[in-house]
Amino acid sequence: MSTSRIFDDYTPKMKTKGRAYLYWNYSRAKLGFPAVFLFCCLFFIAGFLSSSLRSQSQKEVSGVRQRGRQLDSVGYDLMAHGKTGDDSISIIPFQVISWRPRAFYFPKFATPEQCRHIINMARSNLEPSKLALRKEESEHKPQDVRTSMGTFLSASQDGTGILDAIEEKIAKATKLPRSHYEDFNVLRYELGQKYDSHLDAFPPEHYGPQKSQRVATFLVYLSDVEEGGETAFPYENGLNMDGSFDFKKCIGLKVKPRMGDGFLFYSLYPNNTIDPISLHGSCPVIKGEKWVVTKWIRDQQRPF
Ligand SMILES: *[C@@H]1O[C@H](CO)[C@@H](O)[C@H](O)[C@H]1NC(C)=O
Repeated sequence: MSTSRIFDDYTPKMKTKGRAYLYWNYSRAKLGFPAVFLFCCLFFIAGFLSSSLRSQSQKEVSGVRQRGRQLDSVGYDLMAHGKTGDDSISIIPFQVISWRPRAFYFPKFATPEQCRHIINMARSNLEPSKLALRKEESEHKPQDVRTSMGTFLSASQDGTGILDAIEEKIAKATKLPRSHYEDFNVLRYELGQKYDSHLDAFPPEHYGPQKSQRVATFLVYLSDVEEGGETAFPYENGLNMDGSFDFKKCIGLKVKPRMGDGFLFYSLYPNNTIDPISLHGSCPVIKGEKWVVTKWIRDQQRPF
């Protein structure tokens, strides 16, 4: 086939290209061996470069695979486990937020679907949240300390198994057994609603002798909050503890609610006395709505 045949097929617009092709053909014919040699060199260099790049990216891929393999249970040598143990390795990412209070953040602890499911379960049963009665109180009075709405849910109430799965995961995260757990308390804070600073534990001087004490609290934020609604610890690292603190103020270490994130803090020291720095509140919601589920964990088994 002659180049002119090809050239004939070109539309007039493409004629310049056709000419360039012809010219290239012509120059190759003229340059002969040196041009071919140069071509071969270029091919060789290009081939060398691309193969070294590929091997590097393969190394990266295998690095990821290596890490990926370590992340699932197959990569670890499992230990023989007891009757109540697991035949897999659990990995639950967390960040230490603070040691005073002892507080830990668990990003993406629950899925958005799980969060929506819990909200839907709770929505129809919301009642004004109550406060635990102090020694000197005989009945619940209308109060401005805790203005959220809430309801209690047990894992066994949820036929889908979602609450069960969440509770199981909380047990793995806290390493505290489910036999010590109160029911889930789902809370909704609307615009302006809040919970003034308080302890989750019950100091006997205010509440009388306790049969069991709250050791730790695990929150799962079920919604994002546009503004406000943080969990705040005004005594963080010993600040504001001189007795002048206004419990309605929202200051100190603040944790912003994000849908699906978990948050754990301890109300007791390792020696089982109450940690005053665990004092915390829920800041007023400024914009949006806050949904959160609380799991209080006791130092004794059920029933409390
Ligand atoms: C318990 O531990 C805390 C913090 O380490 C300490 O300040 C407190 O004195 C201890 N209380 C008792 C009764 O040992």
